[in-house]
Amino acid sequence: MDNQEFREEVLRGLSDSKKHLPSKYFYDDKGSAIFQEIMEMEEYYLPGCEVEILQNQSKDIIGEILSEEIDVIELGAGDGTKTIVFLEEMIRLGKKPTYVPMDISADILKFNEENIASRLPEVPVVPLVGDYFLTMSSLEERKNPRLLMFMGSNIGNFHGERAIEFIRLINGYLQDGDFFLMGVDLKKNPHIIRAAYNDKDGITKRFNLNLLERINRELSADFDLAAFDHYGVYNPKDGAALSFLVSLEDQEVSIGGRKFSFEKFETIHTEVSQKYSLKELDQLAKLTNFSWDRHFTDSKGYYSLSLFRK
Ligand code: AVJ
Repeated sequence: MDNQEFREEVLRGLSDSKKHLPSKYFYDDKGSAIFQEIMEMEEYYLPGCEVEILQNQSKDIIGEILSEEIDVIELGAGDGTKTIVFLEEMIRLGKKPTYVPMDISADILKFNEENIASRLPEVPVVPLVGDYFLTMSSLEERKNPRLLMFMGSNIGNFHGERAIEFIRLINGYLQDGDFFLMGVDLKKNPHIIRAAYNDKDGITKRFNLNLLERINRELSADFDLAAFDHYGVYNPKDGAALSFLVSLEDQEVSIGGRKFSFEKFETIHTEVSQKYSLKELDQLAKLTNFSWDRHFTDSKGYYSLSLFRK
């Protein structure tokens, strides 16, 4: 990760009248490890729902795809463990997938590649390391139809119109007949969503505070972590779960020599996790120039794997 860019984005976000920080910087080594803990939390239902859909409905998803050879391109693939279920089903159904996992972490992609090689030796793996905005443009030349995957409800991190812009960008890398498969957290009883971002063991709090710890370490700052609290809310009117860091005192923080003051109870907005309804997803498919969509949901109706066809 480019330190200069990190510095600029942090300084810019904290100079705004309503302070904010970009959520993409949560995921340093420590933050990624805390996120693993989040994924195992009782309250954080998302991964369990996604796995259930992959286990029970991969066959139906793949049934919508006509071509035999297909490039399965996954943005933010991580260790690929969940995707193996999907690739296995493809093989069983006689498809010939080539797997193209993309991630910013070279280490995790190495693990991903070895994992697939040992469990599915017949699937060629072409890992691409880097920020997916950059690596996607290296996808220009193509030999096969494409299925682009964006799992884990990562779309939720894009504010409003940004989600539309991002999916339009993805659409631009596809041709007629190609597919986009996206994991989306659905609107549901607001109490359930609220609890997912306010766990009783304080794991989400540690995840949020780690951002300040990272700024301390990488940008020579002096945030006092004990002087900030985590606050997560869900607004059912617009479907946005928001995370904040709350300054518990009047205080001054230095970041590489630049001073920032925080009033008591002033907030830093650190994350949005947008929730959608199936109707909104149909609208999203239209707005982003896809011609067809179908939703595969878990038994509780909490989560959707939404398949869009160009
Ligand atoms: C990885 C972006 C899907 O928004 O639910 C979990 C990150 N933040 N708990 C989400 C997260 C706090 C997560 N995503």
